[in-house]
Amino acid sequence: MNIMSVKPKKAWRKATRLVRGGLTRSGFEETSEALFLTSGFVYGSPQEAEEAFKGDSNRYIYSRLGNPTVAMFEERLALLEGAAFCIGTASGMAAMYAAIISQVRAGDRIVASRALFGSCSYILTDHLPRYGIETVLVDGTDLTQWRHALSRPTTCVFLESPSNPTLEVIDIAAVSRLAHGAGARVVVDNVFASAILQNPLDLGADVVVYSATKHIDGQGRTMGGAILFNDEAFLSDHLEPFFRHTGPSLSPFNAWVLLKGLETMELRVEKQCDNALRVAEFLSDQPRICKVIYPGLASHPQHELAMRQMGRGGTLVTFELDGGQKAAFPFLEALELVDISNNLGDTKSLITHPTTTTQQSMAEEARLHLGITPGLVRLSVGLEDAQDIIEDLEQALLRIG
Ligand SMILES: Cc1ncc(COP(=O)(O)O)c(C=O)c1O
Repeated sequence: MNIMSVKPKKAWRKATRLVRGGLTRSGFEETSEALFLTSGFVYGSPQEAEEAFKGDSNRYIYSRLGNPTVAMFEERLALLEGAAFCIGTASGMAAMYAAIISQVRAGDRIVASRALFGSCSYILTDHLPRYGIETVLVDGTDLTQWRHALSRPTTCVFLESPSNPTLEVIDIAAVSRLAHGAGARVVVDNVFASAILQNPLDLGADVVVYSATKHIDGQGRTMGGAILFNDEAFLSDHLEPFFRHTGPSLSPFNAWVLLKGLETMELRVEKQCDNALRVAEFLSDQPRICKVIYPGLASHPQHELAMRQMGRGGTLVTFELDGGQKAAFPFLEALELVDISNNLGDTKSLITHPTTTTQQSMAEEARLHLGITPGLVRLSVGLEDAQDIIEDLEQALLRIG
C-alpha cells in the first residue's frame, strides 16, 4: 500500500494545514488538487511491474492500494490530526470496522462504551461475537466500570465521545491509561467532535476513526472515512494486509471532494458551534422540552470535561419533547427550514428521531437504558443564520401546542 509516514515539512498552523497540507502538484502545476480518476497505473516494462509488486519501488500500482488524490487527502487529514499515518476509507463504518476487525481474533476481548451509533453497536455486540470475540459494554462516563472491565487482559477499547445521539462525554485520557494497563489499543470514534475540537491521539488514544461523510465533507455530497494512528506496527501487522486484501478503500473522486471539504472545515465547525450554543440556550427555555443535552451548557453532566477536552460544545444538540413520539413526529413534520435527515455535520440543519432511525436496530431496553426515549430528537446545527433556525424551532413548537 502507498501509505507514507507524514511528517510536517514546516510548522504550519491548523488553518494552513487544512488548505495546503498534502498538496502535490502534477507536471501541469495546477492550483487546485488534481483528481486522478484512475483505477490502475501503467508500467514501462514487465520488470518494472514485478518490482512494484515485490514492493521494491515506491510507485502507485492500483487504486485499491493507493492513489495520488487519496494520498493528498490522507496527508492533509494526518497533518490536521497530528498523526503519523492516515488511511482513507469508503465510509465511516468501513473505517470503524477495519480498525477493529484487523486487530482481533477469536478468543479476544473488547471493552466498549455502551452509548454508540447503532451500526457501531451492532458490530460490537452482534457481529463480532459470531466469530468468538467477546465485547464487554460499560457506561462510558463511569470510570469505576471501565476500571473493573479493564482489570482483565483486553485487546481493544472502543469509544465514541461525544456519543451518538445522547452526547455523553468520556474522559479519553483516563480511559486510555486504564486501557493501556490492560494491554489494549484504544480506538476513538471522533465523528461528533471532529478534529477541529478534539485530538484523541494527544489525549493518549492509539487510533482515531472518522466518518468523513460528516464534518469533513460537511456539505452532504460524499461518503468517506479515515483511520489515523502513530504506530507503524499497527499498519504493517494489521491494517496494511487487511486493506490490501479486502479493499474498503476510498474512491479518488470522493477523496477530492473531501480534500476541498477540509479547506473550510474549521470555519464551518466553529460557526456551527456558535449556532448550536444559541439553539441549545433557546431550547432550554421551552416548556414543551423536558431535557436539553448539549455539552456546551453548564447543565450537561460532563460540561467541565467537555470544555477541557473539546473547548466547545460541538455542533449537535439533542433534546426530548414532552409527549414522546406523539409529540416528536408532529414537531419534525412542522419544521419548515430544518430538514428531517439522519446525516449530521452538514451546512444544512438536519433533525433525526433516533428511536425510529439510527438506533432502530438496538433492543428497546438498551435504547431506554441510554436515555434514547421516543420523545428524543437529535439536531445537527447547520450554517444558516442562528435566528432563522431558532424561529423555525419556535414555530414548530407552537404548532404542536
Ligand atoms: C458516530 C458515528 N460513527 C460512524 C458513523 C458511520 O459513518 P458512515 O455513515 O460514513 O459510514 C456514523 C454515521 O452516522 C456516526 O454517527
